[in-house]
Amino acid sequence: MSEPKRIAVTGAAGQICYSMLFRIANGDIYGPDQSVSLQLLEITPALGLLEAVKMELDDCAFPLLHDVVCTDDAKVALKDVDAALFVGAKPRGPGMERKDLINDNGKIFSALGQTLNEVGNPECKVVVVGNPANTNAYILKANAPNMNPRNITALTRLDHNRAISQLAAKTGSRIGEINKMVIWGNHSTTQVPDITWATIGGKKATDAVDTAWAHDTFIPTVAKRGAAVIDARGSSSAASAANGVVDHMASWIQGTPEGDWVSMAVPSDGSYGIDEGLIYSFPVTCKNGEYTIIDDLTVTDTIKEKMLASQAELNEERDTVKALLS
Ligand code: NAD
Ligand code: LMR
Repeated sequence: MSEPKRIAVTGAAGQICYSMLFRIANGDIYGPDQSVSLQLLEITPALGLLEAVKMELDDCAFPLLHDVVCTDDAKVALKDVDAALFVGAKPRGPGMERKDLINDNGKIFSALGQTLNEVGNPECKVVVVGNPANTNAYILKANAPNMNPRNITALTRLDHNRAISQLAAKTGSRIGEINKMVIWGNHSTTQVPDITWATIGGKKATDAVDTAWAHDTFIPTVAKRGAAVIDARGSSSAASAANGVVDHMASWIQGTPEGDWVSMAVPSDGSYGIDEGLIYSFPVTCKNGEYTIIDDLTVTDTIKEKMLASQAELNEERDTVKALLS
């Protein structure tokens, strides 16, 4: 077996990571033929809890888990990693929007961006999960000029999965029959879940549901699902978020199936008129460890208007964190 892939995970003693780390150690990101090393970062007061997580990882005797490092030093955690999963950040509570977290969480990502810039492998694949995820990724990118900017991404795969699940439930179809879902924009309530190109068993989803449902029920249900989970659970989604991160990384590294795509928030290349560099969710295909934005879809006027509103929100968020963009 080749050298282990090194994966940094921040916030490793938190809720999301308690579901996620065991999936990674099981080979769910890099596949069944690749061993992994975990470099886990926590704040100092959580190191005791992190040790307990390591004990449980050890006790699973995962054949693919090479070693686990637990640390409160970001330089140790981020050194030479192939992938970095930035989960550590404050979650929102009931009644809050994700962007309300920006003052507390933004500075975590400027500091981690600077450390990644110093000790990181420039081609490291990054996914930001801590909210507000797109803008935190933008902050991280601005503070890490040595890193390949294409590889700084944020998570909208949870939204993508939620959208597939809602469409499957509405149409009485199986998850595996649904292809070509799209999430445009910000991981926030302005996101735009879009079924225009979705297919169910090869047939157009738009023939199976009416436009009013797609616009008035589907979009808000998916966009507000995070808040619905918080209301039901008292804290934010954890296992489904962990699954979204694993899916995001596995698609990026192992590729997307022929005839399908996934949604990833990535630096815009100007496609669809979205400001270059903004971390914006697009449909992408992945092959050989690279993603490609699907840049030739014809979006409807209604969807375009919503896409621009999500862009405007991202621009506003960016303007509020100017001081962190070094
Ligand atoms: P949590 O509070 O259970 O865990 C967060 C962990 O991060 C804690 O253990 C904390 O000690 C640690 N932490 C805080 N600051 C840190 C730092 N500077 N370095 C390293 N670790 C640090 O929260 P959670 O439920 O795991 O959620 C984490 C984040 O993910 C939140 O911001 C949440 O809103 C976000 N989230 C995003 C999505 C998405 O789809 N993008 C989905 C769910 C949750
Ligand atoms: C989610 O979508 O579940 C997360 O972003 C958590 C949240 O604050 O909604």
